[in-house]
Amino acid sequence: MTRFVPTCVFALACATSMMGVCASSRADEKPKHTIKEIMKEHKKGALKDKVLEGTASADEKKKLVELYTELGKSKPPKGSEENWKKLSDALVKAAKEVADGRDSGIDDLKKAVNCGACHSAHKAS
Ligand code: HEC
Repeated sequence: MTRFVPTCVFALACATSMMGVCASSRADEKPKHTIKEIMKEHKKGALKDKVLEGTASADEKKKLVELYTELGKSKPPKGSEENWKKLSDALVKAAKEVADGRDSGIDDLKKAVNCGACHSAHKAS
């Protein structure tokens, strides 16, 4: 118990410096998920399908918006930054429409989730 106070002070200093690290990495907008991780939600019956079929919960719809937002912050293995931004922005926009309950969302999302178009431009073979 005698060591409690010094340990506590140390932990506090450590936590404060870690907060500094967090703040600076947020400025870089480093994505939490890799592109490959996000692609798992494109598998048959995964999150993207649930959203398109209308079986996703409100939270799941929001999750898809978050994942696509992160996708846009990632750097694809190939292709232009400009085209990547265009394609990922379209995904974010459509996923948001669905999350907001707009009818046009599902159609827009179907169009935006064009696996082949994006892979041929941005996925290294
Ligand atoms: C906005 C662009 C984009 C769209 C749309 C897209 N992908 Fe991808 N996908 C990528 C990129 C980029 C990679 C390569 C990631 C890497 O190598 O780091 C990839 C990789 C993959 C992989 C391989 C993952 C791995 O672990 O190697 C699978 C599987 C995949 N996509 C499935 C799909 C399916 C299915 C669809 C359509 C329903 C789809 N993707 C739509 C960009 C996209």
